[in-house]
Amino acid sequence: MSKIRVSTTVNGDHAEFLCESTSSLLDVLRDTMGLTGSKEGCGSGDCGACTIMLDGEMVCSCLVLAPEAEGRTVATIEGVAEGSVLHPVQQKFLEHAALQCGFCTPGFIVAAKALLDRNPNPTEAEVRYWLAGNLCRCTGYDKIVRAVMAAAADLRQERTPA
Ligand code: FES
Ligand code: FES
Repeated sequence: MSKIRVSTTVNGDHAEFLCESTSSLLDVLRDTMGLTGSKEGCGSGDCGACTIMLDGEMVCSCLVLAPEAEGRTVATIEGVAEGSVLHPVQQKFLEHAALQCGFCTPGFIVAAKALLDRNPNPTEAEVRYWLAGNLCRCTGYDKIVRAVMAAAADLRQERTPA
């Protein structure tokens, strides 16, 4: 099968790759581009471990065909921190021990950041509802929700003019 050339933007950088027409974007990110932060938990859109942003919308990258990234903007967990400075969501996950094995964590962080980018002051119910598509098999959800609420508070403070 001849390969398809795809030209896209990943975490702010221009990127090109060759893929099969049936490759998932998750597979290309992980196997071709070496961006292994996004995880494959189910491969069927049920767990959220592969969550990325595509043109600013949250998607399960296991459900996106790699050629669909042509001309679009992809943001993955690898682009969330600014250099060595963690995003507040990442920092609060650490402080609140909101992870154990960490397999689900990249997906949760990308999803939580997407929520806080559009709603800086969510209620706990809104956080739980937003994260309902992300599954965690070991930490339990209370610590994760507390971490996201704490990150929201931090971000609001950062954005408040002195
Ligand atoms: S691996 Fe994509 S939703 Fe589970
Ligand atoms: S920390 Fe292990 S699955 Fe969530």
